[in-house]
Amino acid sequence: MTEPVAHRIILDCDPGHDDALAILLAAGHPAIELACITTVAGNQTLAKTTHNACVVASVAGLDDVRVAPGAERPLLRELRTAPSFHGESGLDGPATIEPTVRPSDIHAVDLIIETLMDAPGETTLVATGPLTNVALALCKEPRIAQAAKEIVIMGGAYTRGNTTPAAEFNILVDPEAASIVFGASWRLTMMGLDVTHQALCSEGDQRGIAAIGSDVSEFACGLLDFFRTAYRDVAGMSDPPIHDACAVAYVADPTLFEVREAAVEVETHGKFTSGMTVVDFSGKGAPGERFVGTSLRRESFWEMTIDAITAIG
Ligand code: BDR
Ligand code: CA
Repeated sequence: MTEPVAHRIILDCDPGHDDALAILLAAGHPAIELACITTVAGNQTLAKTTHNACVVASVAGLDDVRVAPGAERPLLRELRTAPSFHGESGLDGPATIEPTVRPSDIHAVDLIIETLMDAPGETTLVATGPLTNVALALCKEPRIAQAAKEIVIMGGAYTRGNTTPAAEFNILVDPEAASIVFGASWRLTMMGLDVTHQALCSEGDQRGIAAIGSDVSEFACGLLDFFRTAYRDVAGMSDPPIHDACAVAYVADPTLFEVREAAVEVETHGKFTSGMTVVDFSGKGAPGERFVGTSLRRESFWEMTIDAITAIG
């Protein structure tokens, strides 16, 4: 008899190289059932992030997983993209692939609501892009906050930003949406830069992926080659941080991480601090059910990722 899958997730994302690794991890990890993928504008335009999600889903053999496009722009602001890290396509690097998976007709916001409301308490929402879709889903159906088992977000930071000195990219793109999401009454875990910058892909880690020797590993290495060069040239980092895979890894095995309870507010007005996540570990004013990642067992993270890519076949 096969074991029941432990964790059902929705992955709301903006692929993006590290989003793509997050999809591969979700596709191959035995404890994760990927209910659906929803896309949002962020690293690139919605058309590109949706196409890229379809490409990754095709590579991963996720032909039965719906990919639903969502918001084309942030709630109130102009869209800001990240071509310097992800290229003009949003997924530069690997050879061009014509996806077999096609975008679904349903809107991401409706698919998030439908998936959470159909099975209350059973699904974790993992968000690895700007939080526009999630905020819109909360506005349209506030009961999703009770229906979700948890929300795990890649976004924010308590020590530094990466797009401004104060703000991390996903939160900065749509701070108003982030404020709605962080303000809702659900169990929320934030995997910010403080922990995702520990998920560096060394050349040795990448050799471990290459050694798998499959089409999927070749695709992943194409992504990592581009991402490594971009992080070196743009951020002066020798190894790229695989931010978004941390959020999926946390759902699959929380023992890989240390998290601390904290209160988190999102700055929406500051002249220099807009998009900042203001994290208070003091215990004062913490609303409860708010957790912030602080550290990661890096080697176990890469073992998990390599095992998942191997399992895709
Ligand atoms: C986040 O921003 C995006 O560029 C990445 O995909 C990740 O979600 C890191 O700040
Ligand atoms: Ca992302």
